[in-house]
Amino acid sequence: MKLIRLIYASSLVEPMSKADIQQILAASQRRNNALGITGYLCVSPTHALQCLEGDRDSVNGLYNLIVTDPRHANATLLRYVEPWRRLFPVWDMGFTPDLATAAPDSARWHDQSGFNPYLVESDLVENVIEALCEQAERVELRA
Ligand SMILES: Cc1cc2nc3c(=O)[nH]c(=O)nc-3n(C[C@H](O)[C@H](O)[C@H](O)COP(=O)(O)O)c2cc1C
Repeated sequence: MKLIRLIYASSLVEPMSKADIQQILAASQRRNNALGITGYLCVSPTHALQCLEGDRDSVNGLYNLIVTDPRHANATLLRYVEPWRRLFPVWDMGFTPDLATAAPDSARWHDQSGFNPYLVESDLVENVIEALCEQAERVELRA
């Protein structure tokens, strides 16, 4: 297996409802678990930031499915690397509900509407994600 870490940012068409989030996390628990993909998702009212880790073909396939979801647009790859280990080995999909307030407080990643994940440099995005996920709700199916 070739382990891949893919991190992307996207723009939400409208703020996600609780039902949207529940549906996404339920789908992730089913599909990501079956594919051996782990990861982390954070949303604000305007943006999503997601990390997917697993076999390269599985991650690419899942990413291609996720980007067709009409709830978001302008999915932009921030990072695509072959890491030596996973950042999120135990989460099918760790989740932080409020990217806007949980995000590290660096002015250069903020615009008028708050934290903007498109502004994060590729080589820093893993650090940002690690800081964010300290506040993640643990969705642990794979201890
Ligand atoms: C920002 C975002 C992230 C998503 N992440 C995942 C994911 O990691 N895994 C997944 O199966 N679906 C994810 N989805 C949902 C899928 O686009 C799709 O709705 C879902 O997989 C359909 O599941 P179903 O075929 O079981 O009904 C995500 C959607 C959005 C908007």
